[in-house]
Amino acid sequence: MSEDKVRLGVIGLGGRGRYFARAYDQHPESELVAVADPDPKALDRVRPAYGDRIDYYDDLDEFFSRDDMASVVIASPDFAHRDNAVQAFKYGKNVLLEKPIAQSIEDSDDIMRAWNEAKTVMTVGLELRYSAIFVAMRELVDQGLIGDIKMGLAIDNVSVGGNYFYHDMQRRREYTVSLLMQKGVHTIDLLNWYMGGTPTKVYATGSLAYYGGNEANDKRCRDCDQAGTCPFFIKPDKFVMDYGESIEKQDLCVFAEEVDVNDNSQLVISYANGTSAVYTECHFTPEYTRDFEFVGDKGKMNAQYNNECNFVIRNKYRGTDHIDEWHPKSSGGGHGGGDPLIQQAFLDWVRNPEKMDIEHNIAARDATCVGAAGELSIESGQAIDIPPCPEISF
Ligand SMILES: NC(=O)c1ccc[n+]([C@@H]2O[C@H](COP(=O)([O-])OP(=O)(O)OC[C@H]3O[C@@H](n4cnc5c(N)ncnc54)[C@H](O)[C@@H]3O)[C@@H](O)[C@H]2O)c1
Repeated sequence: MSEDKVRLGVIGLGGRGRYFARAYDQHPESELVAVADPDPKALDRVRPAYGDRIDYYDDLDEFFSRDDMASVVIASPDFAHRDNAVQAFKYGKNVLLEKPIAQSIEDSDDIMRAWNEAKTVMTVGLELRYSAIFVAMRELVDQGLIGDIKMGLAIDNVSVGGNYFYHDMQRRREYTVSLLMQKGVHTIDLLNWYMGGTPTKVYATGSLAYYGGNEANDKRCRDCDQAGTCPFFIKPDKFVMDYGESIEKQDLCVFAEEVDVNDNSQLVISYANGTSAVYTECHFTPEYTRDFEFVGDKGKMNAQYNNECNFVIRNKYRGTDHIDEWHPKSSGGGHGGGDPLIQQAFLDWVRNPEKMDIEHNIAARDATCVGAAGELSIESGQAIDIPPCPEISF
């Protein structure tokens, strides 16, 4: 193992990219050497923090072709992931790619093929798998306490959905494609993980039931006469994300006419191992939680995650009133402690590529495909098959 610092660059300097740049700049085992963004204003925003210690690129090809920077974090918008990731792998980079992998099954598979050709490290930003509650659930499932899981249910209650996704271009389907990928992919990945199978088919329903409406497309919170009472009023200059980053955000009205991204969806997922699961996502709930239920042939597990880290796992068993309960503790940091741990995992894998979790990368592709297939199913009214992942051989 090399003791050298991992030299890396970050592409895409929105809230998430700035967060990664700062985290790796401060990390004792890495050195931030460059950042890239096609928007010069995004580069100017971070210049005061790093000065001439790092290089700045608005030409993405120049950024990727730099040969003294073997690793990159891709935190561009979802629509750019496919091109950024394929290009990064073409240049032989190690890649930490933000979720979702891409916005379609085809684009996800282009990335998987490019990674397979490059044979470098890939980590996908599904950090919740590293959170203490989800690690504990994995261990409890593996101990066989509830037996073999036959049925699962996962619910994304997204109280913040209105403020996160319906004030700016993310409210448009042509930009976001589906919140099943943008938001749901984390919980879908966890659901697939515990179900223990490869997802093969999705049937889904969904709609835009709460947001959207008759308000003008250019109406803004700052000019609104209901600003004092509207639960979705935001200030555009300072909006704090759930991973702690403060960003500027557009304050367009969430009830505008042009809103067309579904705000609730219900998926039935079939797996190659013969089991099935249900996933639902709702963006107008009072609470912000991820709820899970797994039914095995010996018992049932219920679990709840929230960003405040009040984690609970509760098991019931067939033929007894006994209940087991666990409250795993977060090790600290955003996304239930997952953020710092996935950053560390990427550094560890870059230095020891044989440790890379290849299966999780394939699962990240599968989770994206469940979201993509779910949206296609909602549009078509048909069940959608998920093709197998392209062959990955390391
Ligand atoms: N893992 C998580 O929990 C988590 C949390 C938040 C965001 N994300 C993901 O991180 C990514 C970035 O999110 P964000 O909220 O910072 O987005 P954002 O839209 O606020 O910022 C994206 C940045 O990328 C730049 N950009 C635009 N086109 C580009 C291109 N073709 N190539 C490179 N950069 C380009 C933009 O100028 C902007 O500065 C998204 O994929 C999002 O889904 C993940």
